[in-house]
Amino acid sequence: QVERLSSLPAQPQPVGQFPRIRMRRNRADDWSRRMVAERRLGPQDFILPVFVKEGGAKREAIDAMPGVSRHTIPSLIELAEQAAELGIPALALFPVVPRELKSGQAEEAYREDNLCNRAVAALKKAVPEIGLICDVALDPYTDHGHDGVMEDGVILNDETIDVLIRQALGQAAAGVDVVAPSDMMDGRIGRIRDALDAAGFQHVRIMSYAAKYASGFYGPFREAVGSKSALGRGDKRTYQMDPANGDEALRECALDVAEGADMLMVKPGLPYLDIVHRVKQEFKMPVFAYQVSGEYAMMKAAAANGWLDNDRVVLESLMCFKRAGADGVLTYSAIEAAQLLRS
Ligand code: PBG
Repeated sequence: QVERLSSLPAQPQPVGQFPRIRMRRNRADDWSRRMVAERRLGPQDFILPVFVKEGGAKREAIDAMPGVSRHTIPSLIELAEQAAELGIPALALFPVVPRELKSGQAEEAYREDNLCNRAVAALKKAVPEIGLICDVALDPYTDHGHDGVMEDGVILNDETIDVLIRQALGQAAAGVDVVAPSDMMDGRIGRIRDALDAAGFQHVRIMSYAAKYASGFYGPFREAVGSKSALGRGDKRTYQMDPANGDEALRECALDVAEGADMLMVKPGLPYLDIVHRVKQEFKMPVFAYQVSGEYAMMKAAAANGWLDNDRVVLESLMCFKRAGADGVLTYSAIEAAQLLRS
C-alpha cells in the first residue's frame, strides 16, 4: 500500500496553492509561536556577576557599564535579596581591591578576612538561598594586574597555582558554594580539587573558566575592578586563549573535566557561541557562557543612542546562548532580564 502511494506520479500543484509547506503557519499567532518554541528563557538561566568594594559609603556607578555598580557589603545584600526574589540562582562575586593592598605576590588574595571572604560570609548569612560563586585568580590582588605571579615578565604557572589554592581554601572557609578558577594556569583544576577535598571541602563545586579567551571585551570589567591601570598595556595572551582557536578549547575543557571540574564555562559569550555549542555537544555536562562586560557595554551604548531596543536585544542575546547549548549565562543583565520576563 505504502509503496503504491509513493510510486504515484507527483501531482502538479494547482495554480495559486503553491507552496504546500508554509513555515509561516506556525508563526501566525502568539499562542502558536509559544507552542512551537524550542527553548524557554527563565530567571534560573542567569547568574549575576557583582562588584563589591570596601567601606560603608554608598555604591558607585561604573561609567562603562550603565546600571551596574560597585557595591558595599550592605548594598550587595539588598541586591542579593532582589536577585533571590526574582529566582536568580547565583551571584558571581568580584572584589574591588584597594591599591595599597595589591602586591607582587598577591598575599591579599588568601588573607582570611579579605573583602571577598567577608562579603561571602555576610551574603551567606543574610541570603542563604542564593548560590555564591567566587573567581579564583590573582588579578584583583597583583600590582601588575596579571592573573598570576610574575617573574622577569613571565607569569609562573606552578607557583601561581600554590597561591590560587590558598585563595580557594579561604573562599571555601568563608562559605562559598562554587569556586571558579578564571586564571587559565595549566593543571589548576586538579590541584584545587585535591586541596579542597583534603581540607574537608568536598561539597564545594568547581566551575572552570575552561575556555577563556584573551579578549578585548573585558575592558569595562578591568576598569570596574581597577585592574586596568595596573595591567597598563600588558595583555594576557601567554595564558588566555587565542581567539583564532576552537579545537584548543575542547582540549582545555577535556583537561578540566578530567581534573574534576563540575561545570564548564566559555568566555566571552556571543562572539564565541560556536565554542559554547561545541563544548556542550562534546561533554554533555553543565556549560555556562559569560556575556562579558564589553558585550554589556555595547548593548547599553547602542540603546542609549536609540540605535537598539534595549529590552529586545537583552532577551534575544540571552535566548541565543540557550539555543547554542548553554545551561546558563553569567550576565550583568540578570536582574533586568528576570524583571522583563516576569512582566
Ligand atoms: C579575571 C576576570 C576577568 C573577567 C572575569 N574574571 C578579566 C580578565 O580576565 O582580564 C572579565 C569579565 C568581564 O569582562 O565581564 N580573571
